[in-house]
Amino acid sequence: MDKTGVELKATTTDAMRLNLQLRTAFHVLQRFADINCSNADELYSEAKRLPWDRVIDPLGFLSVTSNVRNDTITNSMFPNMRLKDAICDKLTSTVGKRPDAGSSTDGMVVNLHWVENKARIYLNMTGRKLSDRGYRKMPFMAPMRETIAAAVLMEMKYDGTRPLVVPMCGSGTLAIEAALMAKHRAPGLLRSNYACNQWLNADKETWSQQRADAKKLIGKNDPAPIIASDIEEEAVEASRKNAVTAGVDHLIEFHICDFAQTPLPTSGGGDVVLHGEYGVRLGDEDELISTYKRIGDFLKTNCAGWDGYVFTSGKPLIGAIRLKVAKRTPFINAEIDCRLLRYELYKGSKVTEA
Ligand SMILES: C[S@@+](CC[C@H](N)C(=O)[O-])C[C@H]1O[C@@H](n2cnc3c(N)ncnc32)[C@H](O)[C@@H]1O
Repeated sequence: MDKTGVELKATTTDAMRLNLQLRTAFHVLQRFADINCSNADELYSEAKRLPWDRVIDPLGFLSVTSNVRNDTITNSMFPNMRLKDAICDKLTSTVGKRPDAGSSTDGMVVNLHWVENKARIYLNMTGRKLSDRGYRKMPFMAPMRETIAAAVLMEMKYDGTRPLVVPMCGSGTLAIEAALMAKHRAPGLLRSNYACNQWLNADKETWSQQRADAKKLIGKNDPAPIIASDIEEEAVEASRKNAVTAGVDHLIEFHICDFAQTPLPTSGGGDVVLHGEYGVRLGDEDELISTYKRIGDFLKTNCAGWDGYVFTSGKPLIGAIRLKVAKRTPFINAEIDCRLLRYELYKGSKVTEA
């Protein structure tokens, strides 16, 4: 497993629970076989010896994806095709039928991790990425991936007991993920299609039981206020619709306004988190610098006693905030090097050159 994965021993039931409950992972993979192969022909012949007839539904749909570092491979699609051929040829010779195959990950998915002459083959229990929760029917510009939003909230140690304010909410991902977390709602309950239900002899009864158990864990109490705002009416409309789809609209208060006008609950503190635009993705840098100066002023003036967070990228924008950073947490978002910056906003927070 590479550094973006975690390996653990688990039963199939545990793996189902992981699919339903994980907030920051993309896939749950079940190791199927390790093979030695130094080129694509060996990949084909070794993979063809595996007992695919025990796991692949020949009447289903199959997709193969791969991660390969092998000098003989110059076309990244070639290993997928050779492994898919091995699986389908094996099934044709053993059961006389083979699944349809293609790039859609809505059916059965096989993953290949191949480094030099060692290949590991996994049955992907998830299918389409877990970040595709199913609630974001209305993306607004530059939305944050749901898994990143969940990771940001975890890094903030958000648990629903303190108010959360999300100015510049875009399509509402941070606010919606927060509401799901605060209610202990398994994010996986929002979608129904998982690859593990398409394997041969899929245990659909246990899956239904796991879904029912996850529903029992949903908290009865509502979290502290969650407030989301954006200057664009269209963004707030998208957020509201997405929150309805996620079943958490009643937990979020929406406002159309400039971030600096976002109303904060007056009693006690809480967390305020901003994910503005950053140069490499959208907008012009000079204009962004003046927006980030205003973000610094907003945090200092309006949010005294709160914890402030800014998710962004690039030294000039971070510098423009002009507040002392208490913590920087690195993130990779859409292949861009980003930071979650934490500010402790006591009355009279110091303006500094960051
Ligand atoms: C990068 S997007 C936020 C994406 C959001 N996290 C999501 O997941 O969809 C930045 C948002 O800031 C909003 N925005 C830009 N300038 C603003 C301002 N002055 N006040 C409030 N919102 C603003 C934009 O309309 C946009 O929706």
